[in-house]
Amino acid sequence: MKRAKITIVGAGNVGASCAFWAASKELGDIVLLDIPDFADKTKGKALDLAQCGPVERFDANITGTSDYAETAGSDVVVVTAGIPRKPGMSRDDLIQTNVKIVGSVSEQIAKHSPEAVCIIVSNPLDAMVYTAWKKTGFPTQRIVGQAGCLDIARYRTFIAMELDCSVEDISALLMGGHGDDMVPLPRYTSVAGIPVTQLIPEARLTEIIDRAKMGGGELVKLMGTSAYYAPAAGTIQMVEAIVKDKRRILPCAAFCDSEYGVGGYFVGVPCMLGKNGVEKVIEVEFTPAEKDLFASSVSHVKELVGLAESVLTQ
Ligand code: NAI
Ligand code: 2OP
Repeated sequence: MKRAKITIVGAGNVGASCAFWAASKELGDIVLLDIPDFADKTKGKALDLAQCGPVERFDANITGTSDYAETAGSDVVVVTAGIPRKPGMSRDDLIQTNVKIVGSVSEQIAKHSPEAVCIIVSNPLDAMVYTAWKKTGFPTQRIVGQAGCLDIARYRTFIAMELDCSVEDISALLMGGHGDDMVPLPRYTSVAGIPVTQLIPEARLTEIIDRAKMGGGELVKLMGTSAYYAPAAGTIQMVEAIVKDKRRILPCAAFCDSEYGVGGYFVGVPCMLGKNGVEKVIEVEFTPAEKDLFASSVSHVKELVGLAESVLTQ
């Protein structure tokens, strides 16, 4: 059986961590690509990672390159290229630089891997997914953004810490954009099937939700740059669902038109991921309060896309 070919564009903190998780899970052959100035460094990272194979017992060809020809025919391309935020910056502050980077990367992807499913990670996420869609010209099913898998992992971690129980038993849903106005949904959060609202008092749950929403900023303050282990783990969860055609239901930034009345934007919603990318967007019911929170998050996504459009047309 042919091994999947997975390209990761951007061999920095998130990209290299993605390569690590993908290799250790034996998801396929991996091409790690960065700019020509970092060609040797990228080759070095790939070689270093390949040398984990005998110890960690995985077989994978791992290539480091700055040449898109080596990415040709990829099944999945993960885009982590771009600048991360520094203390004091919001994700939105990255837009000018990253629209240009993600735009040029997307053109190369379309040229060399026209059948790939693209997972976008660069920030501001919701605007970068839109940029990749515009610049690849791919069908919306094959363009998807990673944010929800990370945001929900943070939310699940904090709930497990509170209850001193296994993270595995926390099941949760979170929607909207990848900003501080993302929408965790306690009504759709359970612990081994028990509604979380029966286990954690409302006021404390609100504090946990607020911490999850600001989870990216908490790490930027601590590390001086943005997070990478959990973002990469969330991204590779999506890659795995696609290359193994698992049809997992994960919160991802997917194209919603009539869905949730969004009107043609990529926003965080539960979707089914399989070999074709986004196989289906799943619509859940909202209370009026949840509907308002989601609408306000979507309006922020629309503003960001407007800014991305203005950079794209410069
Ligand atoms: P980093 O600075 O460690 O790595 C970024 C890499 O992109 C660098 O190696 C850089 O040389 C490369 N790059 C820049 N322009 C490129 C181009 N045209 N082609 C190929 N490679 C290029 O940054 P880090 O921490 O890996 O973050 C990457 C991006 O991911 C940032 O925009 C960050 O905000 C975002 N991010 C998104 C998350 C999410 O959940 N969606 C979570 C964490 C980070
Ligand atoms: C995060 O949430 C910065 O988007 C990145 O950690």
